[in-house]
Amino acid sequence: MQVICLEGDSLIPINAPQIGEEEIKAVVKVMKSGVLTHGLGAGPMVTKFEKKFAKFVKAKHAIAVNTGTSALHLTITGTGIKHGHEVILPSFTFVSTAEVIAMAGAKPVFVDINPETYNISPRKIEKAITKKTKAIMTVDLYGLPADMQPIREIADKHALTIVEDSCQAHGASYKRRPPGAFADAACWSFYASKNMTTGEGGMITTNDDELAEKMRFMRSHGEKEKYQSLILGHNYHMPEIQAAIGCIQLKKLPKFSAKRRENAKRLSTKLRKTENLQLPKEPRGYKHSWYLYTVRLKDAKRKKRDKTVETLKQKGIGAQVYYATPIHLMPYYRKFGKHRLQETEKAAEQVFSLPVHPGVTAKQIDFIGESVLHAVA
Ligand SMILES: Cc1ncc(COP(=O)(O)O)c(C=O)c1O
Repeated sequence: MQVICLEGDSLIPINAPQIGEEEIKAVVKVMKSGVLTHGLGAGPMVTKFEKKFAKFVKAKHAIAVNTGTSALHLTITGTGIKHGHEVILPSFTFVSTAEVIAMAGAKPVFVDINPETYNISPRKIEKAITKKTKAIMTVDLYGLPADMQPIREIADKHALTIVEDSCQAHGASYKRRPPGAFADAACWSFYASKNMTTGEGGMITTNDDELAEKMRFMRSHGEKEKYQSLILGHNYHMPEIQAAIGCIQLKKLPKFSAKRRENAKRLSTKLRKTENLQLPKEPRGYKHSWYLYTVRLKDAKRKKRDKTVETLKQKGIGAQVYYATPIHLMPYYRKFGKHRLQETEKAAEQVFSLPVHPGVTAKQIDFIGESVLHAVA
């Protein structure tokens, strides 16, 4: 386990992998077994991890891959999105969400967010639909699920697919159902910073039998049998070692989530003392994963927010901004057209995230709380 302290120049990191002896033993066991991967991407550990993960999110199928980005790419291409199509998504997210649409040759169409939740605004989706629209990609930003029910209704009305980017939402829920329940497929990341990790890794969950089979082939060069490619594919295999770590991390996830929740609650109690911050919300019917505890410095310009973050960093608190540049303003993505996303651009100037991961102690949360109150006073 990573050692975190307040002394010296050590930082309380924004997130830190929680790896213990069990994971180390599981890795050694796989290495000794000699089975490190499988020709079609479905070795014994990968299959075990997929079964456990599918059960955890109450999905019919889980397909393990090497990254969350691969999960998103397989899903976008597996659902048939290609050149000439448009996909609606928020701009206030990690770049992968848009990247995979562009990689498929389709056009990302960015829609503004709800300023309270930072997730895509269902109200604004319908206005962005054209004859070319094929899908909506929702993102459960910071670990708070998107408002999926109205989005499902819009998608059904216009015969659109929904891909849910749940890369930050392990353990979250919406209307008592896990991420993916209102989507055609959900995509997960097990990157080292995530609520559960395999170092790098990803998963797709879906209830669609046909799509699941197609994505299994696409994960492995489009093959059902070796050297008999049926469709275009990739090598997106998850290695056996990663899957072994994943099985242990999944077992530990409820404990990790409870600690994140406890830390978030304690931090909110402290930070309620100031009027200068908008604290993260968990609306009724939602369960946050608390991947990121994100506050907004009200009425601030970028410079003031950046200065606050710098002050906290100097105190040893790994405050971070997610995301300072919305995707529609990134150099590469400007070519997809001019988007005016007022709430997205405002949030990108004002938000910053604070550490609440399971390695952060109550004493550290109090220190973070006091330091933030002082910095924003
Ligand atoms: C919202 C979101 N989408 C996609 C990804 C991509 O996942 P990965 O880093 O595993 O490729 C991440 C994680 O970094 C993410 O946070």
